[in-house]
Amino acid sequence: MRRIGVGVLGATGMVGQRFLSLLDGHPWFDVRYLGASERSAGKQYSDAAHWVLDAPMPEWAGDITVGACDPAASGADGCDVLFSALPSSVAGPVEEAFARAGGIVATNAASHRMDPDVPILIPEVNADHLGVIDVQRERRGWEGAIVTNANCTTTGLALGLYPLMDLDLSRVAVTTLQALSGAGYPGVASMAIIDNVIPFIGGEEEKVAAETRRILGSWSVEEGFTDAPVEVSATCTRVNVTDGHLESVFASLDGGPEDVRKAFRDFKDPMADLGLPTSPSRALMLLDEDDRPQPRRDRHRGKGMTVTIGRVRPDIVLGVRFLLLVHNTIRGAAGASIINAELMVRRGIVPG
Ligand SMILES: NC(=O)c1ccc[n+]([C@@H]2O[C@H](COP(=O)([O-])OP(=O)(O)OC[C@H]3O[C@@H](n4cnc5c(N)ncnc54)[C@H](OP(=O)(O)O)[C@@H]3O)[C@@H](O)[C@H]2O)c1
Repeated sequence: MRRIGVGVLGATGMVGQRFLSLLDGHPWFDVRYLGASERSAGKQYSDAAHWVLDAPMPEWAGDITVGACDPAASGADGCDVLFSALPSSVAGPVEEAFARAGGIVATNAASHRMDPDVPILIPEVNADHLGVIDVQRERRGWEGAIVTNANCTTTGLALGLYPLMDLDLSRVAVTTLQALSGAGYPGVASMAIIDNVIPFIGGEEEKVAAETRRILGSWSVEEGFTDAPVEVSATCTRVNVTDGHLESVFASLDGGPEDVRKAFRDFKDPMADLGLPTSPSRALMLLDEDDRPQPRRDRHRGKGMTVTIGRVRPDIVLGVRFLLLVHNTIRGAAGASIINAELMVRRGIVPG
């Protein structure tokens, strides 16, 4: 297979840095262009980015001159795939311009997630939603396309709930303990979060409910997207953890804790045979210890792409409860876009 040129929009930010780290040595993708705001454009990447990851900045990245987020920017025309880590406030028209120019945009931003012709893709859960791309291209007259990944919290929740759909899952309540990196860079002021928990993340609870229902629902040419018949109620909090969102989930379904444990254990990853480089050996992992999952100990499982689950037990109100953990900037952000692009290569949407 030929090497596929890719670019990163919002390359200097928290998710942008994670993209560069995950694309370092990628077997299919070559990074040919990095875009950010006017503040960074024209600077060497090593001068523009405040590198804060727990992995080193790839050597090749430091010398790249950051460009504007414009399809006419130097290097952008050599990219078949644009990974976007732009704030939602600016992503909408920028991503459209790249899709119009023929690029496949794999984005973290929320701007297009709820559009009727744009998928929120998690390959292990709803790969069939990719069919909507033909509709999108026809309606909008684009050669390229926009494919979104879910909000970081939603990604963990939707992956964890998917095996429970066969148990007639009907109601879900979730309380999240979300990491600092989820707020981007520089994020929450240290004096606001040390020795503290912040019980509000603007817009997050609504996104978790709406996106989860869409991802677990169906898509067809005739009907478009139909939400799954699952009620979702979320409470989202910010805690003093670097990476890894912990989610306390309460579920109403047809069965008890043992059925839920069996559903997690029996889950077969439908992507397992496709050889996608970013696929973890297990998308979901059930841990038996009483005090797991923990952000520091479990977030790097499957190179950050495995969602870990533990403490499955009875709940007196909804029936069953458990905890799950998702690495928010890998499985919940950059890794999510990369595995989506890999699936699109396998499906021929990105020319391989
Ligand atoms: N952090 C997470 O865990 C996470 C998870 C899932 C989804 N997301 C989503 O991913 C996106 C990026 O989040 P983040 O946490 O990485 O944010 P961030 O750290 O604030 O980074 C934002 C990036 O966008 C660039 N940018 C800002 N304004 C711009 C403009 N007007 N034109 C062009 N570029 C501009 C910034 O460039 P400069 O450095 O030049 O300002 C920076 O590269 C957001 O939509 C967020 O909601 C984040």
